[in-house]
Amino acid sequence: MIGKKSLDIPRRQLIKLAGLASASAISSVQANPVKTPSASEGPYYPTPSMRHTDIDNDLVKIADKTRQAGGEIITLKGIITNAALLPLSGIRVEIWQCDVNGRYLHTRDRNSATSDSGFQGFGHTLSNANGEYEFRTIKPVSYLGRAPHIHVKLFKDEKVFTTQFYVKDHSDNSQDVLHRRMSVEEQKAVEMEFSSFDDNVEAVINIIC
Ligand SMILES: [Fe+2]
Repeated sequence: MIGKKSLDIPRRQLIKLAGLASASAISSVQANPVKTPSASEGPYYPTPSMRHTDIDNDLVKIADKTRQAGGEIITLKGIITNAALLPLSGIRVEIWQCDVNGRYLHTRDRNSATSDSGFQGFGHTLSNANGEYEFRTIKPVSYLGRAPHIHVKLFKDEKVFTTQFYVKDHSDNSQDVLHRRMSVEEQKAVEMEFSSFDDNVEAVINIIC
């Protein structure tokens, strides 16, 4: 699991969350809420039998393997809230994506590229008491006609919500069928903007569901 220190939420996000305590802040935030758009699960969701034994929230390091994943390592994190912007704790969050060579952890992936044996391909976590979630993974790469993306799946109240996160301003976004289907506001809600923070490259995506 990722260390506690890296679970710190950026100041701008703490301000936003703290603001939820006041009615005026709630109304101002709710004035323009953008519910996280759903997206199809896609064909490469790794079923339990396809996964590594290690399915924690660090996709860059598989337990008992010395080599870590290739690619640009990032932290992906944010806060999960309901439509009223109240943090949701205990939400199971799963992510999966292709490795740096474009291979999914899935038996039906026909890409002939060599799999990156250091990449976990799938991971999960539970949102904490503040609704926070966090993963260590790699910056997604393009995959056979798709813009770079990370698949995300949430389990809430026995319902399943799936979406996909993209790379802000990536040149392939405009050609991506699923990305193009969203409104500009919806696109912004699922686009990762990377920043460097204590030698760590991170993106914050809050999920409203
Ligand atoms: Fe995909």
